[in-house]
Amino acid sequence: MMRLGFLASGRGSNMQAIIDACESGRLPARPVLVISNNADAIALVRAAEHGLETAIINQTTHPGPGACDGAITQPMQDAGTELVILAGYMKKIGPQLLAAFPDRIINIHPSLLPRHGGQGMYGMHVHNAVIAAGDDETGVTIHLVNNEYDRGRILAQHPVQVEPYDTAETLAERVLAVEHDFYVDVLGKIISGDISLQG
Ligand code: GRF
Repeated sequence: MMRLGFLASGRGSNMQAIIDACESGRLPARPVLVISNNADAIALVRAAEHGLETAIINQTTHPGPGACDGAITQPMQDAGTELVILAGYMKKIGPQLLAAFPDRIINIHPSLLPRHGGQGMYGMHVHNAVIAAGDDETGVTIHLVNNEYDRGRILAQHPVQVEPYDTAETLAERVLAVEHDFYVDVLGKIISGDISLQG
C-alpha cells in the first residue's frame, strides 16, 4: 500500500476520486494526510468525511519566509508519505518539500502542457485560453513537480477534443471528468512501476 499525502486548495474533486479508488480497492494505496492552505477548502471537508488527518498551513498560521514549507514537510514525513499528490493546490512547492520528496511529488494540469501552463494559468484561465487560441485539442497532463509552475517532467497526457460549440465552461466540465479517471489510472501505473518517476 503506497501512502499518499495530498495538497489541495479548493474543491478537491480529484482528491476525492483518488480516495474513492483507494477505498474500492482499484488503487493499492492509502491516503494518509491532506494539507490545505485554505481553511474553507471543500477538500478538507471531504478528507474529514473519510477520517483522514488534515492540516491548514498558510502565511497566517505560519508567518515568515520558509515557515510554510517546513510546516508542510514535517507532517508529510511524519505520516510516512511516499508520494505527494497535488490536487488543485494553488501555492508553489518550497525547497524543503522538494528535497524531502525528490521525484515524489506529482500534479495534474487541465491542458496539454507546455501549452497553457505557468503562473496564473489555473482553473477557468486555462480553458478560456484554449478557446481564445482556437485550439482544436486540449487535455490533461500529469507531471512531476519542481520549483517552476507546471514545468516538471511530463509523466502522462490525455487529449480532449475541442468541439466547435464548446465554451470554456463546457470544456472545463469535460476535461475535469477525464482528470478524475486519468489521475487514478496514472497513479495505478506509477504504483505498479509501469510509469517511472525517476528520469
Ligand atoms: C483541476 O482542474 C486540476 O487539473 C487543477 O486544479 C483543478 C482542481 O480541481 N490543478 P479539484 O480541486 O480537484 O476539483
